[in-house]
Amino acid sequence: MAISIKISKTSQSRIHLCDFENIEFGKIFSDHMFRVDYEDGKWQNPQILPYGPIEISPALSAIHYGQSIFEGMKAFKNPAGEAQLFRPIDNINRLNKSAVRMGMPEIPEELFLGGLKQLVAIDKDWIPTKEGSALYVRPFMFATDDYVGVRSSINYTFMIFCCPVNSYYPKPIKVKVEKKYVRASAGMAGYAKAAGNYGISMLPTAEAKKEGYDQIIWTDGRTHENVEESGTTNLFFVMEDKLILTPRIDGNILEGITRASCIHLLKEEGYEIQERDISVKEIIEATKANKLTDAFGTGTAAIIAKIAAIGFEGTDYFLPEAESRKVSNWLYNTIYQIQTGKIADQNNWVMPVE
Ligand code: COI
Repeated sequence: MAISIKISKTSQSRIHLCDFENIEFGKIFSDHMFRVDYEDGKWQNPQILPYGPIEISPALSAIHYGQSIFEGMKAFKNPAGEAQLFRPIDNINRLNKSAVRMGMPEIPEELFLGGLKQLVAIDKDWIPTKEGSALYVRPFMFATDDYVGVRSSINYTFMIFCCPVNSYYPKPIKVKVEKKYVRASAGMAGYAKAAGNYGISMLPTAEAKKEGYDQIIWTDGRTHENVEESGTTNLFFVMEDKLILTPRIDGNILEGITRASCIHLLKEEGYEIQERDISVKEIIEATKANKLTDAFGTGTAAIIAKIAAIGFEGTDYFLPEAESRKVSNWLYNTIYQIQTGKIADQNNWVMPVE
């Protein structure tokens, strides 16, 4: 069933103000946004309207009690100039999984996808084509009750906006193993893309930045012995260019769509992948023995973020030069070329917009 969406287009596009050669991540927004409201137990009034501020109550439930979730996905142009999305159904499923965990309503796939495709089709000219760039798509849902009592909100808003972006990390990153703060533990909401999971990372990340790092590596909340994920990405460690380790899905880490794509492509290429608990000790010992040939984070925004150095208990352990990284270089090129339609998509990951 096709979704009927009310469309009000802007009378004045801002696209001429965007310098597509020098885009800063997350600061430029395309002309339109999608919005649908959950009221009286159902999603109603889907609309595409000019991007801009929205009116909210100071008592907005999402602000006070944190029922707020989001997704990140990307749209690209293929060589024929057609817009395409990368694995949008996986994002829809993950948003709904986050919604369930946060006591929020799920959004029907056809409504999400209908709004998404129409929005990206309308703002298609905002999709940048420079190497490494994309149109970053940010779907999100938040509780809208005007009520200060603590209970699950009755009303919600779901929205999508888009930003033309370049790579999130312009150069390899220095990461610090975090042993003081905890992101998630058994029974919490670590797997959900909940705003609060990012909120609690701000202080630890700011402290790491003061020490000269770009990001932190979270460790498990119980023992702080095992690595979990980085602030913005899932993690992969490559031993002697052969064996690849990544933390297992344990309810605490984000079930990354780029992570899943990387595992799939690496297996197809014949690499041995182990999804398991990985101790910080194992990683540090491998760097000391020059066995850690590559390490990187994966995520929608970052795609593949090479790790330049790992800081642990006051010492920095450096990894090989970025150019020599066999696995992460191959992986980045392969994924990005699939996303931009330059090599065949054998896994049905790419979805045309129009
Ligand atoms: C993403 O990769 O989409 C995220 O949500 C992480 C954030 C750094 C933008």
